[in-house]
Amino acid sequence: MAGANHWHELSFNGRSAVVTGAARGIGRAAAHRLAGLGARTVIWDLDGEVAEQAATELRELLKSQGRPHSVDWAHVDISDADAVEQSMERAVSGDGLDVLVNNAGTTTVHETESMPLELWERTLRINLSGTFYCCRAAIPYLKRRPGAAIVNISSSSALVGGGGGGHYAASKAGIDGLTRHLARELAPDVRVNSIQPRTIETDLFQARYAHAPMEQEKLINQIPLRRLGQPEDIADAIAFLASDWAAYITGQILLIDGGRTYQ
Ligand SMILES: NC(=O)c1ccc[n+]([C@@H]2O[C@H](COP(=O)([O-])OP(=O)(O)OC[C@H]3O[C@@H](n4cnc5c(N)ncnc54)[C@H](O)[C@@H]3O)[C@@H](O)[C@H]2O)c1
Repeated sequence: MAGANHWHELSFNGRSAVVTGAARGIGRAAAHRLAGLGARTVIWDLDGEVAEQAATELRELLKSQGRPHSVDWAHVDISDADAVEQSMERAVSGDGLDVLVNNAGTTTVHETESMPLELWERTLRINLSGTFYCCRAAIPYLKRRPGAAIVNISSSSALVGGGGGGHYAASKAGIDGLTRHLARELAPDVRVNSIQPRTIETDLFQARYAHAPMEQEKLINQIPLRRLGQPEDIADAIAFLASDWAAYITGQILLIDGGRTYQ
């Protein structure tokens, strides 16, 4: 705990972090932030090739800036509980884990009436069960480290629907419920918070609007801050919530939407 005269930098020196779905988009930006602030960072993704590339680029960037650069990657499908368990053991190398960022997620555009049941189940399995599997596997390691934190990435869809369909909105609302529960269950050892991004310019977002470029224009006019969010906007909040600067914050759900939802 920092007293009024005890100023401390936002730093992850000597700490370790696992970020899921970090080959691209928000997860990649989060891995950059955490590693840039000193964390030994492990990038997990279903897309091993892009994950490896992301890790190499991040290592080179940090090296060129003369910063410490411990960045690893692993091909992990978070919807496979056994793979998550084994990968977690390898990622922490017996040391404990300071930060888990549950960011991996997926969506498709589908109406409820015609939604294949397999799609509903797959989306819940990746977004919600995957987040649960990662938390479950990380908890024993997080408990070994003082000040450990989980940051879950849900979505504004948990509040207002949308995001492709009911499968997505329900999976994200489930993540927020899990966050609130784990914050109680894991206190005082591990803090747990979620972030609800909205309209962040990533591949996932572009895929949803690829068919309707005019829609994007309209959308920006609905955002009080008059721009789409960038992955770095979310990465900054992830770093804050994972850090000692948020030492008294747990069980919170932070909406990051440029002011769009409540105006
Ligand atoms: N972009 C937005 O506007 C927005 C809004 C709300 C919520 N989100 C959430 O933010 C998170 C990141 O989104 P993004 O926009 O950066 O998406 P993205 O598609 O750009 O990146 C997601 C990454 O997750 C990986 N992934 C998917 N399924 C996986 C699995 N089973 N195991 C491991 N990795 C897997 C993908 O390979 C990809 O690299 C997601 O959970 C998404 O639902 C995004």
